[in-house]
Amino acid sequence: MKVLIIGSGAREHGIAWKLSQSPKQPKLFCAPGNAGIADIAECVDIKPEEIDRLLEFALENTIDLTIVGPEVALVKGVVDAFEQKGLRIFGPNKKAAQLEGSKVFAKEFMQKYKIPTARHRTYNNFESAIAELQYFDLPIVIKVDGLAAGKGVVIAQNRQEAVEAIYDIMGEKKFGDAGNTIVIEEFLLGKEVSVLAFVDGKTIVPMASAQDYKRALDGDKGLNTGGMGAVSPAFYYSSKAEESVCSEIIAKTMEALKAEDIIYKGVLYFGIMLTVDGPKVLEFNVRFGDPETEVILPRLKSDLLDIFNLVVEGKLDSAEIEWSKDNAVCVVMSSGGYPEEYQVGYEIIGIDAAKEAARIYHAGTKFEDGKFVTAGGRVLVISALGEDYHAARSQAYEAIKKISFQNQHYRTDIALK
Ligand code: AMP
Ligand code: GLY
Repeated sequence: MKVLIIGSGAREHGIAWKLSQSPKQPKLFCAPGNAGIADIAECVDIKPEEIDRLLEFALENTIDLTIVGPEVALVKGVVDAFEQKGLRIFGPNKKAAQLEGSKVFAKEFMQKYKIPTARHRTYNNFESAIAELQYFDLPIVIKVDGLAAGKGVVIAQNRQEAVEAIYDIMGEKKFGDAGNTIVIEEFLLGKEVSVLAFVDGKTIVPMASAQDYKRALDGDKGLNTGGMGAVSPAFYYSSKAEESVCSEIIAKTMEALKAEDIIYKGVLYFGIMLTVDGPKVLEFNVRFGDPETEVILPRLKSDLLDIFNLVVEGKLDSAEIEWSKDNAVCVVMSSGGYPEEYQVGYEIIGIDAAKEAARIYHAGTKFEDGKFVTAGGRVLVISALGEDYHAARSQAYEAIKKISFQNQHYRTDIALK
């Protein structure tokens, strides 16, 4: 079986690695991939948004199954384009991908079907947004409607900050047309958990839970990033919380998708805040999370290729999905300065030595003149399993000690409660 993975991060490396463990031994391709993925898959120089070229590649190379990593390709309709040509692809179509592609769409969907979420208002003009700010309690959460690479949420601590954020988005067009409409919503206090689920259009099956460390610096300080580390299972996700997420959020979402005639296939990611009033949805993502994937997939005991195939065929109800009891911890090594300005092109040493202690997923790396060099904000994700958080954490940090590159940065408090 020939499998094409779309994307180039540690998430896609995690998916490729898990597929490479399948007894069915699929031949893997990755577009565009990275220096680490190149060890287990043939990398093809096509970007996720180049849908016509991806389609052409899949047809010419008789690809049997395509897995979509990043949301851009999904929101642009890669699944619709592939399905029109009769190709098998894992991911939601363009209509379903609006759950991530438009915050307004997601909020209206949740409101209509009474899926618990923060109270909100939508604005498509600057003056009315500013005029109504007085009705919101502090802090005020402001969200860009469209895709903004994880940077489209501002938590304003006072009204002045809120006015500035709205001006940047709607006046200065910091996010282009993605910010033509904004959502302003109530701030939710609590602990966050990421619950990802496989969905085949009819059946939804949650995966093991995870928790992402979003801030750049220790102690949850600094800017929001794509994620600086993760653990699985999530801390604080009690069986009571899990029951409530399953009945009030996951099952209701599945019913709502059916009621809206949305055929959702792929992974649906529920970003959840566990509040004193019960779990509430912060956001939907229409894909695997990054770095959540790097702690979830190492705990999956079943064959991921089988699960992907069953989802595409609409037979998820017959899948056997087993999770290891081990805990998983991953730590992201980033370029100093990320998520703002940073330099790339520095040699990375010690990857091979580190592999003895943990699994090393490449995020932003290149192979040049016989050595690995940094090529992105997030560079490597170091992931380890252990019988508890402490054991997994020790392994991950032991591996990190063996790796070095100029200007490296990582958090030292991942998986410390
Ligand atoms: P989102 O892209 O909607 O997940 O937002 C990114 C991050 O902002 C979330 O993971 C939360 O940490 C935070 N966030 C988003 N919405 C809220 C909210 N209503 N209350 C508190 N924090 C929020
Ligand atoms: N880790 C958050 C995300 O994948 O969006």
